[in-house]
Amino acid sequence: MKAQVLTEPFPHLIVEDLYEDHELELIWEELNFFTKPGKLMLPLEHGAAEKQGGEAKTSALAFPLTSTLPGKTRRWSNILTLETAMFQKLKRDLRNWKQSHYSLYQIPTPSNTYTKLRYYHNDEGYATHADHPFAWITFSYFYKEPKKFTGGELFFEDFDNYEFPCNNNSLIAIPPYVAHGVRTVKIDNDDYYSGNGRYAITTFVDYRRRDSLDAIDFDPQSNEADLIDWWKKD
Ligand SMILES: [Fe+2]
Repeated sequence: MKAQVLTEPFPHLIVEDLYEDHELELIWEELNFFTKPGKLMLPLEHGAAEKQGGEAKTSALAFPLTSTLPGKTRRWSNILTLETAMFQKLKRDLRNWKQSHYSLYQIPTPSNTYTKLRYYHNDEGYATHADHPFAWITFSYFYKEPKKFTGGELFFEDFDNYEFPCNNNSLIAIPPYVAHGVRTVKIDNDDYYSGNGRYAITTFVDYRRRDSLDAIDFDPQSNEADLIDWWKKD
């Protein structure tokens, strides 16, 4: 796991060699399981970002892991179990990232995550959008080697089209205000269910909403990146 905090063109954390080989085997068991007919959901079924008029900004199919496996049932997902351990390992880097830029200082302490498994095959991408409501967002990427597709980079058109290459077994964490999109994936003559496209595990790290206007009732919003045991509270 090689993590790097970057502040230009916006504060972000990138990680290469995210998971070890034995962990990747477990992740691929699950990616392969979901890449079967009838399992992945259409964009508007899994809550993709929408254009005005209600059309989805992506045609990629996905599976909403955490809403299907909430609380303690998350242990039935290899991806969710490994993600929890991965965030623990990354805690110091996430803290360093949050301390790297003033725009992140006041991001509330996270209390929950919404994690989706998303698969991009030929002609699939994602138009630019932001995921404002969350504390921060992480994306991790997987594909079969040798790589059979082109495209699939994460791009940021508000930042001179800065791109993250989305290498296999890498992760990027971005602030919620940073608009992002996915370059269209291209694969020639390949069956959808080959799984030769681009997999993204997208994790929306959330925080507890205030339910009172009385400042005394508010929990202190600390500059922590702790995701310890939040799933055990359910
Ligand atoms: Fe997004």
